[in-house]
Amino acid sequence: MSDPRPIGVFDSGMGGLTVLRALGQRLPRETFVYLGDTARLPYGTKSAETVRAYALQATRLLIAEGVKMVVIACNTASAVALEPLAEALAPVPVIGVIEPGARAAVAATRNRRIAVIATEGTVKGEAYPRAIHALKGEMSVVQRPCQVFVALAEEGWTESSVTTEAAQRYLGSLFEGAAAPDTIVLGCTHFPVLAAAIRQAIGADVAVVDSAETTAAAVAEALEAKGMSNETGRASSMRFFATDSPERFARVGAIFLGRPIDLADVELIDLRS
Ligand code: DGL
Repeated sequence: MSDPRPIGVFDSGMGGLTVLRALGQRLPRETFVYLGDTARLPYGTKSAETVRAYALQATRLLIAEGVKMVVIACNTASAVALEPLAEALAPVPVIGVIEPGARAAVAATRNRRIAVIATEGTVKGEAYPRAIHALKGEMSVVQRPCQVFVALAEEGWTESSVTTEAAQRYLGSLFEGAAAPDTIVLGCTHFPVLAAAIRQAIGADVAVVDSAETTAAAVAEALEAKGMSNETGRASSMRFFATDSPERFARVGAIFLGRPIDLADVELIDLRS
């Protein structure tokens, strides 16, 4: 059986396009509807209650679009709102980015020390340490909020000296000494595009877990297990909703999606009405 309905992907803004990019590569027969709540970005500095309310409004719109599954690409929303969203959107399955990232980190570490970099909201929500410890108790997890990375990524300063300096300040000391973690989780949608600067700060030997890649793998597995794959689709297609400036979405979004976005494919919506 083949299920041609689209997959819904939700993020606070454009960063989740790193997850969509990985999904498109992994699932070339599926179609996608992406919603970026750009009017209310960032989520990473907001309270858990506010993020939950915003995420619920946004994902209800995806359900109204007839999606077969919802991927919460935003780490902050996954960290503080996954359970209420899964309950509210049932029976449509909801997949977040935390669990797949935690699983990959546990598989990658050799010395049982894992670093997680994320927004303030994700760090405060403690969802990564919880998910990692649920998989394996005896893990040491150190978290570091790297809020400035979000702005640097949106500015397109992926390899600028400012970004290298910021990465050094945030991460340099974390990876010094015998007790340093050997694995780092990029626990924010924006961080995969800064991978080169992050790598320079942490050295060549630390394993990097990109939650975009691991989430795409988890979605592929879930589609297969639930018999929901689109077996007959010819080519992956993508439509976009943004809650503010489609022009900025198309321009900045291209950094995260890794290819140009046609402005005609981006629709402005108002979630408040
Ligand atoms: N999408 C957010 C995340 O992955 C980063 C941007 C924001 O703070 O809204 O945590």
